[in-house]
Amino acid sequence: MVELNHPEELKAWIRARREAGQRIGFVPTMGFLHEGHLRLVDVVRSHADVVVMSIFVNPLQFGPDEDLARYPRDLDRDRVLAQGRGVDALFVPARETMYPPGAEIMVVPGVTASRWEGASRPGHFTGVLTVVAKLFNLVTPDVVGFGQKDFQQATLIRRMVKDLNWPVEIVLVPTVREPDGLALSSRNTYLDPENRRKALALSQSLRTAAELWLAGERRGARLKEAMEVGFRVYPEIVVEYIAIVDPESMEPVERVEATTVIAVAVRVGATRLIDNIVLGQGIR
Ligand code: PAJ
Repeated sequence: MVELNHPEELKAWIRARREAGQRIGFVPTMGFLHEGHLRLVDVVRSHADVVVMSIFVNPLQFGPDEDLARYPRDLDRDRVLAQGRGVDALFVPARETMYPPGAEIMVVPGVTASRWEGASRPGHFTGVLTVVAKLFNLVTPDVVGFGQKDFQQATLIRRMVKDLNWPVEIVLVPTVREPDGLALSSRNTYLDPENRRKALALSQSLRTAAELWLAGERRGARLKEAMEVGFRVYPEIVVEYIAIVDPESMEPVERVEATTVIAVAVRVGATRLIDNIVLGQGIR
């Protein structure tokens, strides 16, 4: 695995791969890698000849009261994990490289970003789309992997690629979970044992909804109610939203279908966690 820090180095490396006729796969991350990130590498590799992974904690997607300063980082460990999983090139740009003084143009999403994560985190998706657009232009990938874990993010990336005519294929990778159901996240490291236990309420609530769906319930309001009842057992958990939505528009639906997404955001103590399922796929 090569590590590249400068866009010029990256460009030269990519050019050589292209001249060799290779298809380029890409996995953008903010590091502190876990099995979810590494699964993206596996899936992208199955669609490409070489895999580039980026590690960049993007300041533009963090709000002023969010966890940018304490976001977990361990580049030494990340290098070992990425190499072990067969990443060919690790791109680790410096902040000044990505955002030189005077940079001012951004990619601003529309209505698809107005609800849920977009409403809870103003400006977040502008930050995500802007950095992803920049990374796409630097890496020029043929195929890019995104996790279902961040469902609205993946929907917006697909939207951006379509609306801006980007010649890139987006692959959505199912959420990787701990054996007890908690979705893997770099932010899980914030959870003390007590909150780690409570955090299970998140995947449990989705399981409740999936079971009702399997039993034939098609009313979104009923699924939501059942999930809310489940959360009452954990009065310390603050539910930010329970979204029962169409996967493309992110608009709420009344009657649920196999493609309907249920997305949840909660705060457990100071830690904000999100999770979701596609109903017809259940929770794995
Ligand atoms: P990060 O949170 O590091 O996630 C990088 C990629 O890993 C995203 O596509 C995310 O959906 C995926 N991922 C995270 N947890 C996962 C899990 N448990 N199972 C499967 N995939 C998982 O998302 C970002 O970084 C940033 O917003 C980024 C796209 C890199 C832009 O800065």
